[in-house]
Parts: sequence; C-alpha cells; structure tokens
Amino acid sequence: MKIVILTGSPHHPGTSEQLADAFEETVVQNGNEVYRFDAGRRVNEFSLLQLEDDHAGMEVALHPDDVVENEVLPKLIDADLVVLVTSLYYYGVNAALKAIIDRFYAYNHELHGGKQAVTLVSGYGDDDAFASLNLYFQQLLDYMRWQPAGSVLASGAWNDEKLQQHVKEASILGQQFK
Ligand SMILES: Cc1cc2nc3c(=O)[nH]c(=O)nc-3n(C[C@H](O)[C@H](O)[C@H](O)COP(=O)(O)O)c2cc1C
Repeated sequence: MKIVILTGSPHHPGTSEQLADAFEETVVQNGNEVYRFDAGRRVNEFSLLQLEDDHAGMEVALHPDDVVENEVLPKLIDADLVVLVTSLYYYGVNAALKAIIDRFYAYNHELHGGKQAVTLVSGYGDDDAFASLNLYFQQLLDYMRWQPAGSVLASGAWNDEKLQQHVKEASILGQQFK
C-alpha cells in the first residue's frame, strides 16, 4: 500500500511522535511504501492556505511553490492510507497539521474517496478530554469519504507506562496494512 503519515507536533522527542514511529516501523517492515511529513517540525517550509480575493463563496486557492504543493499533496492524492498524527492542543489538532489539512482545499476533488484513514493521538488529559477531537476526526473523515481504518488514543500520555501500551497498540494496528 501507499501510505502517507502526517504528524503535527513540534515536540521531539514527543509522545505522538512515538505513536507515529511505532506505526511507521511496522508498515515499513510489512513492505508498504511510506511517505512521512512531520509538519510540526517543518513549518518554515510551507505556507498557510491562501485564497484569491473576490471569490466569495467560490474560493480559489493559490498554489504556493512549497513542499506541501510539490511533495505532500501529490503523495496524498496517490495514497491508499492516510495516517493523521497529532497531540491534543487546546482540545484540537496541532496547528501545523491543521495547516496541512486546510491545504487539502485546493484538491478536494482529487482527495475525496478511495482511501483509508488512521488517527493516532496523544494528550495529557483522560479520555473525556478528547471528545471534540474525536468528533472532528469523525466529521473530517466522513467529509473526505475516507474509510476509518483504526485509531489509537493515548490519553494520560504523561504516564510513560500507559504511553508505551499505546505505542504497542500503534505498532499492532500497523500490522493490518499490507
Ligand atoms: C500548546 C499546548 C496545548 C495543550 N493542550 C492540551 C489539552 O487541551 N488537553 C490535554 O489533555 N493536554 C494538552 N496539552 C498537553 C499535550 O497534549 C501533551 O503534553 C502531549 O503528550 C504532547 O504530545 P507531543 O509530545 O506529541 O507534542 C497541551 C500541550 C501544549 C504544549
């Protein structure tokens, strides 16, 4: 399978990074073709969504000559599986990941359907703290018409023992993609 992993946290070494690493290791071992973009650590290489003026309700996106336009979006369009990795920041996704998601807009048509999606999330709160984010991912995947194919929710990620269990879950989840 062609797999694209998008991470959003700027934190290294980080908790969501560990989930991504474990998942990636498994899917690479299984012979998948993997492209990973760590958006949170590469924010200087891409721009936020930019739209042309005077297109109210019919937004027209500009296409900056950056890594998202030239590398990330072509890989995404081609992907069978999209893996969205984030830590919980103020009840939502990391800003860098959101900036990449907003850039989907110019390619909505090409990106819709025909893909599976996995979400890997970490955060300090307990499960209840992830309610908004869970709903967001559910609605996003629904809108993109991407088939949900599994998720790992590493709540209480300050607790390394608990976190390592979730890292193992991410590794096991990766086993199903070949
Ligand atoms: C800017 C910021 C916002 C955060 N917001 C939340 C939050 O809303 N709820 C929560 O449980 N933890 C929150 N946290 C804690 C992180 O989710 C937690 O430290 C997580 O393990 C970080 O993952 P990372 O190492 O992959 O970045 C926040 C941390 C930061 C830096």
